[in-house]
Formats: sequence, structure tokens, C-alpha cells
Amino acid sequence: MLPNIVLIGFMGCGKSSVGRRLAGLTGHRFVDTDDLVTQAEDRSISEIFADAGEAYFREVEQRVLEETVGVCGIILSTGGGLVLREPNQVALRKIGVIGWLDADPEVLFERASRSGKRPLLQTENPRETFDRLLDSRLGIYTEVADFRIDTTQMNHDEAAQHVLDEALRRHRRFEG
Ligand code: S3P
Repeated sequence: MLPNIVLIGFMGCGKSSVGRRLAGLTGHRFVDTDDLVTQAEDRSISEIFADAGEAYFREVEQRVLEETVGVCGIILSTGGGLVLREPNQVALRKIGVIGWLDADPEVLFERASRSGKRPLLQTENPRETFDRLLDSRLGIYTEVADFRIDTTQMNHDEAAQHVLDEALRRHRRFEG
């Protein structure tokens, strides 16, 4: 049986769009940790950051992730900062094979700032904030991921196909 697939990566890397396509390709159910947080709190991510702060958001994020451990048949898209907490890294490994969607920083920044809805980039100098955050996280994505896909030159359908191929290859190797 096809394992769960977890998508990690920086804001703007396309986790949700690629994850939805992967769900279409595999028949797995699409689950997004940001959606789970929003549902649990009955308010938007921006509202949670504004009203309760990032630390509170991280608590809820960790809780909804822990509740996802043991669920089968899912494609899990994660918020870009979810991998920061070590218990979350452990939980992700239990959930499924972990694919990191990466892209050139220019492309990531363009995609991440497009919606204007990302609270962490609502600063005086969003580009500087973006560079600092990306720099501090690249090592963690590298460590946590089972594989990395560079989506710079890919549309979402192509990225989804690449993730699926890679996840299947790893799964087969694992199963012997
Ligand atoms: C965050 C990324 C966001 C969301 C929150 C914090 C981060 O998700 O979880 O705004 O710390 O990088 P996306 O990666 O889906 O934008």
C-alpha cells in the first residue's frame, strides 16, 4: 500500500497546491496542518498570530500534528515552520515519507509574498526577514527530509508527479 506522504518546505514552495494534486493522483486524503489549526481555533492564521502570538500558534500546530500520527491514507502538507520543533520532527517520521519542496529563493519569495497573508512576512523589510528565516531553516529541512525536489522549473502537476515517483521509489526500497 502507498504510504502517507508528508510535504515540508518554506512558505511559498507550493506544499498545499502540490499536496492537493498528489491527493488526486493517489486517492489519499489531503490534510493541511494550517487548515487543522484554523479549524481547531475557528479563526485564521493571521488572527491567531495577531491575537495570541506565534508561540501559541506553535502549540496548537504541535497538537494537531500529534493528533495526525496514526492516521493512514493521507497527503500531509505542513506549515513552513512546523519542522522547527524536535517533537514535530519525530511525529513527521512516524506519519510518512517526507518530501521537501524547494525552489530558488527568488521564486520562493515571489510566491510567498504574493498572497500578502503570511504574518511572519508582515515586517518593515519582508525580504530581509525572508532571507533570515530561510537561512535558519535550510539545515533543518535537509535533515528532516527523506528527499528534496527542486520545483523552480516545475508547475504543480510536474512537482506532484516527481514527489510521487520519489516516494514510491523509497517505499519499494524500504519494503525490499
Ligand atoms: C509559517 C508558515 C505558514 C503558517 C504560518 C507560519 C512559517 O504556512 O504555518 O504562517 O513559520 O513558515 P505556509 O508554509 O503554508 O505558508
